[in-house]
Amino acid sequence: MSNNFKFFSRLAWGNWKLTNGLDNPKNKAQHIESVFNNKILVIDTSDIYGNYNNEEILGKALADVGFDRASYQVVTKGNIFNNHPDYKHIQGHHYDSSYNYLKSEIERSLNKLQTPYIDLYLLHRLDYLLNPVETAKVLKEYYDKGLIKAVGVSNFPTSTIRMLQKYLDIPISTNQIEFSLKQLSPLDDGSLDLAIENGYQPMFWSPYARGEIFKEGNILDCLKKYATKYNATIEAIATSWLLKHPAKGVIVIGSNNKDRISSMAKGVDINLEAHEWYDILKATGKILP
Ligand SMILES: NC(=O)c1ccc[n+]([C@@H]2O[C@H](COP(=O)([O-])OP(=O)(O)OC[C@H]3O[C@@H](n4cnc5c(N)ncnc54)[C@H](OP(=O)(O)O)[C@@H]3O)[C@@H](O)[C@H]2O)c1
Repeated sequence: MSNNFKFFSRLAWGNWKLTNGLDNPKNKAQHIESVFNNKILVIDTSDIYGNYNNEEILGKALADVGFDRASYQVVTKGNIFNNHPDYKHIQGHHYDSSYNYLKSEIERSLNKLQTPYIDLYLLHRLDYLLNPVETAKVLKEYYDKGLIKAVGVSNFPTSTIRMLQKYLDIPISTNQIEFSLKQLSPLDDGSLDLAIENGYQPMFWSPYARGEIFKEGNILDCLKKYATKYNATIEAIATSWLLKHPAKGVIVIGSNNKDRISSMAKGVDINLEAHEWYDILKATGKILP
């Protein structure tokens, strides 16, 4: 089944930590505006971020900015249950990809985000009890209503993506996975290969390892070397490293710092040579046979 969902930009901005340092509505709207001004046209969120509050805060900020809804994409997720405020009778933490739970979460997300549609709806975590017939039914129903433009998964192994796709009449359009110079498993676990095979762009979360790669050590030294060569910042070089992979992934930036975001965004225009890409890879400690 061919995927026809395309991301508007290779960079997305994630609102997991929307409330960090952005403490009033004006701040938040200005921040979103600066994200868009950096040609970052994909906003990533989840029902659970901020203890189930961030979607609403984001929805208000997007409304305040007032950009044409068709000019950006909103990605949200569901299936993590963790002391959900709307389900007082169930406590604790588990995953739920059942028809009824996802239906209520999709409705809730549409409402909180103040949006007529969600561009891309993801199953947030691998749910071991996922019944593919039931899950596919609710995703297809909302897709057919035009309330979800595309569907995807997050943190799914390749085997579960293949299994779910067998029951789903619409293409799985992404797998959002952790990928950075500190988390290299996607290079070898088949996640990036499957993205290319199925024709979808993966999304990369914690792409800068929460800032760890910029602190010290071989990775930082190597980023600095290429920052000097390309007359760019270390953040831009880290971006260009992630974008170089042929899976054409979309980086989900988590920073709330305007200057840092703008610095990261400049990496879109840098095309590292293959030997440079491998040089940075080796700086992580990865040994090439
Ligand atoms: N699907 C999933 O399971 C999943 C899981 C986690 C995250 N996500 C998504 O991915 C997005 C990004 O994740 P992330 O926040 O972990 O990504 P990240 O971009 O790797 O990390 C962002 C954090 O690193 C800090 N940082 C970045 N550069 C720094 C530097 N040079 N020095 C010091 N601190 C620096 C930022 O602080 P400042 O704000 O001060 O810049 C921010 O707190 C989230 O917002 C969410 O949308 C998805």
